[in-house]
Amino acid sequence: MGNGMPLHSPLLHYPTCLNQFSPAEIEAVYRAIAERRDIRHFLPDPVAPEVLHRLLQAAHQAPSVGFMQPWRFLRITDPALRGTLHQLVEQERLRTAEALGGRASAFLQLKVEGLRECGEVLVAALRDEREAHIFGRRTLPEMDLASVACAIQNLWLAARAEGLGMGWVSIFDPGQVRLALRMPAGAQPVAILCLGHVAEFYPRPLLETEGWASRVSLAELVFENSWPAAPAPSQG
Ligand SMILES: Cc1cc2nc3c(=O)[nH]c(=O)nc-3n(C[C@H](O)[C@H](O)[C@H](O)COP(=O)(O)O)c2cc1C
Repeated sequence: MGNGMPLHSPLLHYPTCLNQFSPAEIEAVYRAIAERRDIRHFLPDPVAPEVLHRLLQAAHQAPSVGFMQPWRFLRITDPALRGTLHQLVEQERLRTAEALGGRASAFLQLKVEGLRECGEVLVAALRDEREAHIFGRRTLPEMDLASVACAIQNLWLAARAEGLGMGWVSIFDPGQVRLALRMPAGAQPVAILCLGHVAEFYPRPLLETEGWASRVSLAELVFENSWPAAPAPSQG
């Protein structure tokens, strides 16, 4: 090394952050995680521009594969375009119901978006020309999508901490949304995000309250060293 830096202690040469959060800060992080909810009921009040900027900054601080930062956010301010997105969601909601067969009518009773009421609509998307990014994606190309999901989660948690609700809507045909937003071939819409003020945060996931699904116990999801053997098929 010509610059005199010892090879064995590279961290000393970078600015470091204090690694201590106060107990109140730790508590606040866990509280935002526990009290984040997928929101579908909104008040129509607008989101303050400086708050929206903070939320987008939080999204942009997300981890990403190979530091690829594949996320793009489209802010939908044109009411006609919002209407188009709502129609596309509605079309796909009906197709989803069809595909669900026996659970169709239960599904159709669920509220699955708050697109027409919320103060702000964002579309989170994957950028085009992602093929050039190989680092961390050679065997798992979908890690770009995972990175966008990390950005959305950051936004979601920051919104909760700011007292704003957010709903993630994935019930749409991505090709149609791409066309409506004039996105280039290769780019992919990932989520329509409804963001805004709320009268209340649901105490539990709405799909749980509505009896659609319930939270699995953590113990059933954490394994040690190997995947557990499948239970033997019951006799008779
Ligand atoms: C990838 C993804 C897609 C989702 N798409 C929808 C959707 O289209 N409509 C909807 O109502 N909720 C959607 N949700 C929200 C889930 O239904 C919600 O996270 C789940 O029911 C748990 O509730 P909670 O987020 O309040 O904890 C989505 C969530 C994720 C992570």
